[in-house]
Amino acid sequence: MTIHIYKDVDTQSQAAAGLFAAQILQKPDCVLGFATGSTPLGTYAALIDLYKRGIADFSTVRTFNLDEYVGMSRTHEQSYYRFMVENLFDQVNIPKDNYRLPDGMAKDLNAECAGYERAIDDAGGIDLLLLGIGLNSHIGFNEPEARFSDGTHVVDLTESTIEANKRFFATASEVPRQAISMGIGSIMRARAIALVINGAAKADITKQALQGPVVPDVPGSILRFHPNVTVLLDEAAASKL
Ligand code: PGA
Repeated sequence: MTIHIYKDVDTQSQAAAGLFAAQILQKPDCVLGFATGSTPLGTYAALIDLYKRGIADFSTVRTFNLDEYVGMSRTHEQSYYRFMVENLFDQVNIPKDNYRLPDGMAKDLNAECAGYERAIDDAGGIDLLLLGIGLNSHIGFNEPEARFSDGTHVVDLTESTIEANKRFFATASEVPRQAISMGIGSIMRARAIALVINGAAKADITKQALQGPVVPDVPGSILRFHPNVTVLLDEAAASKL
């Protein structure tokens, strides 16, 4: 694990976007893994800037997102599909058929999970995956559990996650209770990972994930066993290391 500490979110975001631009230049038809939430917004803004400056060309890139809420249509304003379209895909030249998120409206959720995992394999696996981390150390929606999960699966969200995500909804009761998420195995099979963490509220979990024991109760800790993880922290997130 290589850990970089940046003075602010702006420089952190530019560095994260630089990793993705470099990946696209190395392999124009690469497979990227993307995340939602507040953390990746700066990275996406910086990537859009690199696209506008002619540095990042998304025309042959394929992408898979980590997760999607169950029961949420693509057009719902809180769907992760819509988040990605608005915050990245519509602002760069990626063809519509080249990006995929789990379908939270699938009738057969288990078949959707198996199909999603197969699609990642068929694409040749993920070359570079962007990750944030939850306040409870979840990565994707892999919540603290008794054991590490493998492939894409249906997850029951924890109270901590529902509480953290209710800021996007009118009330906590509107936050979906389930999501489809890549598993810890899907994440660990990515060839390279960029883990971005910012803000003082994440300082404790950053320390636990990066310097505490590797345990399923702290899902982010498993990344320490991955051979190619770049961690990008701002000074606030790094303050307890
Ligand atoms: P956040 O979410 O970026 O909105 O803090 C991160 C996560 O829950 O993985």
